[in-house]
Amino acid sequence: MNEEIVISLKGVRKTFRDFWLRPTVNAVDGLDLSVRRGEVFGLLGPNGSGKSTTIKMILGLLDPTAGEVLMFGRSPRSLSARARLGYLPELSYMHPFLTARETLMYYAGLCGLSRNEGAKRTAELLAMVKLEDVANRAVGGFSKGMARRVALASALVGRPELLVLDEPTSGLDPVSTKEVKMLVKALAANGMTILMTSHLLADAEDVCDRVMILNHGKAVAEGRVAELGGSLEDFFLAKVGSADEFVLADFLS
Ligand SMILES: Nc1ncnc2c1ncn2[C@@H]1O[C@H](COP(=O)(O)OP(=O)(O)OP(=O)(O)O)[C@@H](O)[C@H]1O
Ligand SMILES: [Mg+2]
Repeated sequence: MNEEIVISLKGVRKTFRDFWLRPTVNAVDGLDLSVRRGEVFGLLGPNGSGKSTTIKMILGLLDPTAGEVLMFGRSPRSLSARARLGYLPELSYMHPFLTARETLMYYAGLCGLSRNEGAKRTAELLAMVKLEDVANRAVGGFSKGMARRVALASALVGRPELLVLDEPTSGLDPVSTKEVKMLVKALAANGMTILMTSHLLADAEDVCDRVMILNHGKAVAEGRVAELGGSLEDFFLAKVGSADEFVLADFLS
């Protein structure tokens, strides 16, 4: 097994079927992808291009119709692989009456930490996401940016080697977006492998080492951000072309 390849997809297809099992959408259509250890990889594409479906297959929440998905060289359903993963879903549910501290303590318990270890880890994470001042307030009253930071901290409780972030900045104002991006960069600087999705090129440009652009479930472009020679927007336009039915405005908004 190659320890350097954290996520590997080969010829992956996901076909959703209707009630009569007739194929309706090829949400992911012949995708090859590999994420190396220590890399920040951005999966980009407009609404409906297959980003979340790809992530769900990597997490083992959906099985591919065809092809192979491996995480840490194992099936994504393997518990030993899952134990090394942290996941921030596109929409996360948190109990509105629990405080930020109680929420993180709850996840610490799920990760098998003792009360003391959990309290220590919770304090570290509250400081990291800058929520110490509001730690004892119920998360139900939090702004979107604060709630997103609690969700991100929850994903980090178990000290994952791989962090999967589905649209980490969607719905956030520019200040909160910048804070989340700085956190992602700090985690990457500490050696964490990160896979994130976004439909905002600017977000990916700021934090990702490598990006892949999806359209209708297929990879239309892939490259290292540092080697794209110009902005991601120019790269994207050159590869995809504005004549494509791609929802360009949506992508660049
Ligand atoms: N459970 C499902 N059943 C049927 N079709 C689905 C299902 N989940 C996703 N799809 C379809 O698969 C395609 C890809 O959806 P997906 O959620 O992966 O896109 P996305 O790139 O994450 O989009 P967004 O930017 O809106 O989050 C879409 O056409 C969607 O309607
Ligand atoms: Mg999605």
